[in-house]
Amino acid sequence: MLLRGTISAALPPSVRLRASPTRTPARAVAVGASSSCGGRDYPLSISDAALETRGFVLRRGSEGLDLDELNAVFVAVGFPRRDPEKIRVALEHTQAVLWVEHRKSRRPVAFARATGDGVFNAIIWDVVVDPSFQGIGLGKAIIERLLQELLRRGISNIALYSEPRVLGFYRPLGFVADPDGIRGMVYSKKHKKK
Ligand SMILES: CC(C)(COP(=O)(O)OP(=O)(O)OC[C@H]1O[C@@H](n2cnc3c(N)ncnc32)[C@H](O)[C@@H]1OP(=O)(O)O)[C@@H](O)C(=O)NCCC(=O)NCCS
Repeated sequence: MLLRGTISAALPPSVRLRASPTRTPARAVAVGASSSCGGRDYPLSISDAALETRGFVLRRGSEGLDLDELNAVFVAVGFPRRDPEKIRVALEHTQAVLWVEHRKSRRPVAFARATGDGVFNAIIWDVVVDPSFQGIGLGKAIIERLLQELLRRGISNIALYSEPRVLGFYRPLGFVADPDGIRGMVYSKKHKKK
């Protein structure tokens, strides 16, 4: 999911996933997770230490994050380049920010964030992995940690918007589309009746 919106273990059975809205509504499918197990620890497929031995540093929070470099990753995956000042403001209003720094180049190579009310609900946005570093588990590592952090805080309703081609990435992480028939809706100026 982007600013349009990251567990080898699936969410526990008590976690019920459900639908909600993306920045590209026409192409995105809303998926979500709701859990009654707030505070439960969450298993990770790879430890921070193991990531470090592979040359990656897991960062929590936006401190030290170069927004131009982040923009470059967005652009590299096909997301639009954004005004860095707007990204800065968006991050200020974001509850959980996770990114992976490539130690050698000091560049961000994976990123995801979650906004929400801090108690009940969160939405995950801007899940990206630099194309040169895709397919080696960074996306999974980052979503696992984001889910872990939200669940630890007791946040039980976690949603995201997924491009159809990425549904298969999110499903093993515990997300489902349209659970119990719930459908996401996104406000669309284009479709608003005059
Ligand atoms: C989608 C994305 C975040 C995945 O990150 P990644 O680091 O390449 O994925 P990982 O290496 O962590 O893959 C974890 C697992 O998901 C699978 N997977 C990855 N991308 C997938 C996809 N598009 N569809 C189905 N499965 C996928 C992997 O095969 C792997 O499976 P395994 O655990 O059985 O080995 C990354 O490809 C990306 O940034 N894509 C472009 C931006 C984008 O589409 N973001 C999501 C917007 S909704």
